Amino acid sequence: PIDAANWPYPRWVAHRGAGQLAPENTLAAFRLGHAHGYRMFECDVRLSADGVPFLLHDDALDRTTDGKGFVTGLDWATLSRLDAGSWHSPAFRGEPLASLEAVRSFCETQDCALNVELKPTPGTEFETGRVVARTLLRDWRGRLPPLLSSFRTEALRGACEGAPTLPRALLIERLEPDCVDIALGLGCVAIVAYHGLITTRFEAWLRSERLALLTYTVNDDAEAERLLGIGVQGLITDRVDHFDPSR
Ligand code: G3P
Ligand code: MG
Repeated sequence: PIDAANWPYPRWVAHRGAGQLAPENTLAAFRLGHAHGYRMFECDVRLSADGVPFLLHDDALDRTTDGKGFVTGLDWATLSRLDAGSWHSPAFRGEPLASLEAVRSFCETQDCALNVELKPTPGTEFETGRVVARTLLRDWRGRLPPLLSSFRTEALRGACEGAPTLPRALLIERLEPDCVDIALGLGCVAIVAYHGLITTRFEAWLRSERLALLTYTVNDDAEAERLLGIGVQGLITDRVDHFDPSR
């Protein structure tokens, strides 16, 4: 079983593919993170109106594509025609939004691990978790199972229904006293915590419950050293050109 003592995943995880070096959550970012030696990727996944899992962080298109407004109601045929690269820099002009299917294929071919953050469009939490998990359970042929994480407990409940055997992790940005109970209740194998929350006490608490501890988004040298000293299992970073993932 996957737990804190038997954590099979790479320690370093490239955030949104390659952080800010390429347009986030696109295949171009995954290729760049891979070129920097990263063998595990975090990405944000939601559903199109016709139920296709694809990568997008925000509820709206404006920041990271040439589309406008909320993503709600748009099907994948429409979304897949958007330019998700020009906002970043001219070199990435025409880079499309990535489907989860394309990312799955990339990770399998490159023998990379994947952390799918369920980022549901509001109101679709359970359905997003269920469909994404079921799709990955059906299609994933990689060596390590995809790790499904979310801030949204309903999405993790959906993931549990769609694929009870795929590992899950609870994301937290604040320290609530019931976070461990919630994670255990959802059958999670890990908590992914905002790095500023992590102390030796917190790590010991999770370890005593056999929960692994991962952390986001670690971009600072001193903070990375502190977290490695505490013994976190995973660090999610934007700075794939800076942190050596082999350590
Ligand atoms: O999954 C870790 C991290 O990505 C959570 O925050 O906003 O970058 O998706 P965010
Ligand atoms: Mg994320």
